[in-house]
Amino acid sequence: MALLPSFERWGDLTGRRVLVRVDFNCPVSVVDGRTVVSDDFRIRSTLPLFTDLLDRGARVVACTHFGRPKGRVVAEYSVQPIRDRLNELIEGVELLENLRFNPGEESNDRAFGESLVAGFDYYINEAFSASHRAHASIMVPPSMVPSAAGPNLQREVATLQSLLDSPARPFVAIVGGAKVADKLGIVKVLADKADTVIVGGGMAYTFESTQGRTIGSSLFDARYVEECAKLLAAGNVLIPADSRGLGDGEPFGRGGGPDEPRYFGANIPDGCEGLDIGPEAVDAFVRAIANARTILWNGPVGVFEDPRFATGTEAVARAVAASDAVSVIGGGDSVAALQEFGLEDQVSFVSTGGGASLEFVELGDLPGLTALRESPFA
Ligand code: 3PG
Ligand code: MG
Repeated sequence: MALLPSFERWGDLTGRRVLVRVDFNCPVSVVDGRTVVSDDFRIRSTLPLFTDLLDRGARVVACTHFGRPKGRVVAEYSVQPIRDRLNELIEGVELLENLRFNPGEESNDRAFGESLVAGFDYYINEAFSASHRAHASIMVPPSMVPSAAGPNLQREVATLQSLLDSPARPFVAIVGGAKVADKLGIVKVLADKADTVIVGGGMAYTFESTQGRTIGSSLFDARYVEECAKLLAAGNVLIPADSRGLGDGEPFGRGGGPDEPRYFGANIPDGCEGLDIGPEAVDAFVRAIANARTILWNGPVGVFEDPRFATGTEAVARAVAASDAVSVIGGGDSVAALQEFGLEDQVSFVSTGGGASLEFVELGDLPGLTALRESPFA
């Protein structure tokens, strides 16, 4: 695939105006009545690019979406708290107001995109995690001015690409999350590329249901039963052998009040819900991960936000962290899990893009990358 255009070749940028599309869609929280950025990872990760551009004399303006205000000005989604944090971290970078206040952003309106980039000499896309959205700020500027991929975007693409093209084997992928509808596509692609695909989380119960196992009132999507069965028949998709959850099953430990986690074995009785993988599944998953030389992890294997059902996800996170394999983590939830257990420094690469990294693995490209490659100035 053609390389993404890079901005190194632009040389001196004295007096040049550069528009940088970033993804500062950061979590915020209210402290003493003031909205503040609670995780500035996405802002900090752009600082090397901004510093480089400023050092080369450029005038730098950044733009981002924030939340989903749906084309209207909604005070709650003003970028002001993000701008405040950016200004604390670096001087001399302007941040435009939320792109999604204008309906033209999400509808990929040509006129809106043109107005955005009017007066700029260059455009850089440093928003890998938004590049699966064919929105105006991503798609239009590369057709208007010389454009390039930012360094973080390049690194994300190169990392995912090499993992798909030439993984050291065994290549073990772990796919979790609640909805089988969201993840079936990537399981299919990975079943072809990886040696083992571990499936956990709410999505696993639809797979389990195809094996003559009962799943009680666990998450289930009848539309995908046939495809799940087909994937299991291929032989390299590993699903949980047992689970834990809530309901009237045999008590997992002592006690056994209604809020106590229960152990269900392979079959979940009526009126019970699986919420985490069981100990046999933990063993099998950890063994497969320990054997891997390449790991891709996207999505938790249980409802880990609830400490009662964090056991499986914690075991997976620890196994991934302990491994010497090349390990790539994508998706906000798996990253949050790593952070929760203090393990984010013990993996090879943490992708900033949840949806974007999934879509890149599934489809092999993203609209925002195509736009850069097809730029007439590239
Ligand atoms: C994200 O945070 O997942 C990205 O910024 C994309 O946001 P979106 O899902 O609202 O397009
Ligand atoms: Mg998202």
